[in-house]
Amino acid sequence: MANRGKVTKAIFPVAGLGTRFLPATKSIPKEILTLVDRPLIQYAIDEARAAGIREFIFVTARGKSALEDYFDHAPGLESSLRRAGKDEMLETLRKTNMESGAIAYIRQHRALGLGHAVWCARNLIGDAPFAVMLPDDVIASQKPCLQQMIESHAETGGNMVAVMEVAKSQTSSYGIVDVKEDMGALVSVRGMVEKPETSAAPSNLAVIGRYILNPSIMRHLGRMKPGAVGEIQLTDAIATEITEADNVYGYRFSGKRYDCGTKAGYLQATVAFALARPDLADEFGDFLSTIVAAKDAAQ
Ligand code: UTP
Repeated sequence: MANRGKVTKAIFPVAGLGTRFLPATKSIPKEILTLVDRPLIQYAIDEARAAGIREFIFVTARGKSALEDYFDHAPGLESSLRRAGKDEMLETLRKTNMESGAIAYIRQHRALGLGHAVWCARNLIGDAPFAVMLPDDVIASQKPCLQQMIESHAETGGNMVAVMEVAKSQTSSYGIVDVKEDMGALVSVRGMVEKPETSAAPSNLAVIGRYILNPSIMRHLGRMKPGAVGEIQLTDAIATEITEADNVYGYRFSGKRYDCGTKAGYLQATVAFALARPDLADEFGDFLSTIVAAKDAAQ
């Protein structure tokens, strides 16, 4: 049944081990790594707020306390900046403040997979659809990706996953959708496969880290057994929803997505975001041109 309730809650699963960024992630949560001067998690929070999210549910784990501290107000720091007349920095800091009670932290005791992490938040989700956002995926766009999806979801109801075209050779790194009907930005989905080999991929439309899900997904997750790579997969629960309710859509968002869970993606995002900053663009752009020219000359 279409569930068109307003989306005001978002789950941020941040309990993964972040092994691809070891040794940094031995003591720093991956989500605190910065793009220029803002942690990855701040980009996700800003996107969620712009889309109308009011309740932020973090699924965390041991070793992630820096993330919780990041969202605390810092009155000492604020008064130092005020005394020093650093109003601009004070304003930057204030923009990161979250309203008391807007954030909830849930623990995932073992890293049993993204699906399991989402399921850990089941008691905080009522009977309205909710968003899931993976902060690893940073999306540069005019209109925030989640806002695009929520607007489309207001028309369709059901479940919605953000999708983008990938090279066929890349399908084994993503959940891939099997398209029933292609309606342009929106596709209706008849199936989903987690990390298929190229030959088994039903399309080249890959699911990335933005979802709007019905609460029934939690029921499916509660019954899931570990799937691909021994983890409880969110994709498998969404596939069950397709079988039971046939109400899953893919949404081709507009914007550029950076996979900041990989070193290459993280570095690309760092360069792109630095070049987009008026205070850094000239100096950093000149530097990049110089080193690229030097590299070309050396070859
Ligand atoms: P990833 O697949 O990127 O795993 O998880 P990871 O642990 O963060 O990083 P690597 O692969 O070891 O480098 C995708 C998202 O799902 C969350 C992660 O925190 C990330 O936001 N996740 C994953 C959990 O919350 N719990 C899990 O058990 C697994």
